[in-house]
Amino acid sequence: MGIKYRLLRGMRDISGAEAEKISRVVESAKKTFRAFNYSELMLPTMEEAALFARAAGETSDVVAKQMYVFKDKGDRTVALRPEGTAGAARYYVESGAAANSPIVKIFYSGSMFRYERPQEGRYREFYQIGCEYFGNSDAACDAEIIHLASMILDEAGVREREIFINTLGCPACRRSYADAVKKYAASLSGELCEDCLRRIEKNPLRVLDCKTDAEKLSDFPRSQDALCPECLKHYSEVKKLLDAIGVKYTEDFRLVRGLDYYTRTVFEIKSRLLGAQDAVAAGGRYDGLVEELFGRPTPAAGFAVGVERMLMASAGQKEKYDGGFFVAVTSPAITSAASKLAAEMRAAGIRTEGPLASKSLKSQLGAADKMGFGQVVIIADEELAYGDVIIKNMGSGEQKKMKLSGLVGQLAEQNAKARDMYDMARHGAQAEQEKK
Ligand code: HAM
Repeated sequence: MGIKYRLLRGMRDISGAEAEKISRVVESAKKTFRAFNYSELMLPTMEEAALFARAAGETSDVVAKQMYVFKDKGDRTVALRPEGTAGAARYYVESGAAANSPIVKIFYSGSMFRYERPQEGRYREFYQIGCEYFGNSDAACDAEIIHLASMILDEAGVREREIFINTLGCPACRRSYADAVKKYAASLSGELCEDCLRRIEKNPLRVLDCKTDAEKLSDFPRSQDALCPECLKHYSEVKKLLDAIGVKYTEDFRLVRGLDYYTRTVFEIKSRLLGAQDAVAAGGRYDGLVEELFGRPTPAAGFAVGVERMLMASAGQKEKYDGGFFVAVTSPAITSAASKLAAEMRAAGIRTEGPLASKSLKSQLGAADKMGFGQVVIIADEELAYGDVIIKNMGSGEQKKMKLSGLVGQLAEQNAKARDMYDMARHGAQAEQEKK
């Protein structure tokens, strides 16, 4: 029989070790968000399509080319979320969260959808963890989110990374800067690619991220030359605070971001371990968005991490050791003793598989080996009569007897010790690597 149903292009099944690693890095990121006093917001996957168009901008690629838009059965035009910021800002306005607190800090995680040309690190459904900070216009808020993004990557083991920052200025500065870039690009229009020619009219700042024309546009005006004193002061404070916290960054005067809501600080974190799609995390300030969505004028900033890219950039980092035991039986008649033991081991947090009592002992051991269990607890008729079990080390083949009473506590201890030894070895190797 042939395979009839296959994955849609750009979609992925994430299984086994990768799925576990994703859960683990997302859990660890959530802890870090909580340490910075963000609370979780579970956003819907689908919103009115118009929300994204208004937030990210009709001319942004995300809205103009990449949105999954369709009519639902009630004839509403809806979209699968291409990003989390628009939904979070909609929530902020709709829930009236501002009435309860001067600042509102939320984080979210989940799938985003963009109809892009799939390639390594670029999928049509991908996972983001992100945060949004509403109600603070201080430079300290910008520095906080950049520091937070950097910490999350650090904890996920992304060591090879660089933070790039730039400023686009307040809406008035951004407009005059866009005009300056438009004038400059128009003066070179005879030499530019078609995409750039279209952008000059519709979204001139995006001309600056064109890879094809980068060299021709090398003399481009810098945003900092178009900023008002307030915006300049804000930007230099952000840099000063990052220096004070010890977050290293590089200024990238071409960095403009593909979503139109950004004002003032923008940033991207890139890893050279990734290919063409090298941005692991990105974000910035967006002081005009809440008002654009018919809320009260509210300063805001945030970022999102691409989880798949974060894992790719942490490749080479070993998995946390997960030990565990397989429980096997020599005959089906003693399954209940094995099931009871397995239940107690699981309750103690030990990863446990078995019993597969309808199989012979040989095939149970074969299954344990295939599933990567280094140790098997064998419940055998004879030993059980004396209150004993056999522990078999699958690597060396060595077997030893242990008393059933008190066994779970001993196994839990043994498992934890093995994990500590593994972690020590891993950190030692990492420290060595970092020294090099
Ligand atoms: P973004 O730059 O569009 O920003 O996406 C953030 C991150 O999501 C990227 O740096 C990348 O790691 C990942 N990503 C984006 N597209 C894909 C894809 N097709 N496949 C795999 N990973 C992808 C935003 O989404 C903004 N909402 C960030 C933000 C939050 N700004 C303010 N608050």
